[in-house]
Amino acid sequence: MIPFNKPYCSGREQTYMAEVCRSMTMSGNGDFTKKCHSFFEDRYGFRKVLLCTSGTDALEMCAMLCNLNEGDEVIVPSYTFVSSAIAFIREKAKVVFADSGKYNPNITAETIEPLITPKTRVICVVHYAGVACDMDAIMALAEKHGIIVVEDAAHAIDSYYKGRPLGSIGHLAAFSFHETKNIICGEGGMLAINDERFVSRAEILWEKGTNRAEFYRGMVNKYGWCDMGSSFLPSEFNAAYLWAQLEQIDDIQQRRKLLWQTYYDVLQPVIDKARFTLPQIPDYATNNAHMFYIVCPSLDVRTRLMSYLKENGVQSTFHYIPLHSSDYAKTHYTDIAELPECDRYGDCLVRLPLYYELTEDEARYIAGLILKFQEAN
Ligand SMILES: Cc1ncc(COP(=O)(O)O)c(C=O)c1O
Repeated sequence: MIPFNKPYCSGREQTYMAEVCRSMTMSGNGDFTKKCHSFFEDRYGFRKVLLCTSGTDALEMCAMLCNLNEGDEVIVPSYTFVSSAIAFIREKAKVVFADSGKYNPNITAETIEPLITPKTRVICVVHYAGVACDMDAIMALAEKHGIIVVEDAAHAIDSYYKGRPLGSIGHLAAFSFHETKNIICGEGGMLAINDERFVSRAEILWEKGTNRAEFYRGMVNKYGWCDMGSSFLPSEFNAAYLWAQLEQIDDIQQRRKLLWQTYYDVLQPVIDKARFTLPQIPDYATNNAHMFYIVCPSLDVRTRLMSYLKENGVQSTFHYIPLHSSDYAKTHYTDIAELPECDRYGDCLVRLPLYYELTEDEARYIAGLILKFQEAN
């Protein structure tokens, strides 16, 4: 069976984790964490980053930093992972679900604008599959209405919008280093802060509500409890694993892009038949090859395609079940709108294996199966 995902280990991960064992400083914010922080700030120009124990944690920090009150509204995509919504619901906000666009699952200025009310405090965008939302249009809307923009960049490491790194455009951003992502450390994530006014509070929330970061910098002679917070920082073991991955980032990205392109080149004829669609990368976006997906013409075709792939030794998966149709949303919200594009991606999108160790022959074999299936259907 060709699995859907296989976490990559470049080889140096074990060496660096053994170093952590020997150093006897295993808790958070040690040397490996600092190296990772500098890497991200230097390479992508984020004002400040903080490694977290997951992308979910990073989103929770974003939501806490937004200082929400009961009744405040947060616009989120419905076609996303549950963490993009619950981070804000924990802070007592009401989430309002936006529909995806026609050409890819991202939300757009057009699907967001009608949802803005005087209560809207935050727009949380997801750069699905690492492909940018149209950030100029979304930031202009946000600025007009005084709204904070959080980029859920869980899929979007090393991807760009008009030359600007994703995660560096909104006020705040969250990344994931879960084992299914391009750059991994088991469970892990990162908060990126681009707006100066959030920096000092973020450090406090990160360190259980204390000003320990200032203490370490010698700015205060003792540290104590000054705000809410949690233990958001990961151990040095995670940071050591992540550092080994960051040293290989260009190689990892190059390999994934090659495999993505292999799929695309074989499947291109499918597009011509207009029944299946391939990912479309807008001119303003780069492709970080986080994911290769196809969109089938119906749920029935997707179900049969996935069974056909399985019978032929290939594990594929669908993706999000739209949040607006979840049991949680149905029991907590009475005013959920129809979101037809989002429902279409929920029913019809299928993801194919894409990981460093997948071979080009395997990618061609999988794409060939899809062509055969498509011809017979
Ligand atoms: C869009 C999106 N946001 C947030 C997350 C949560 O990331 P994590 O699993 O690191 O908590 C995911 C997880 O895959 C995701 O797909």
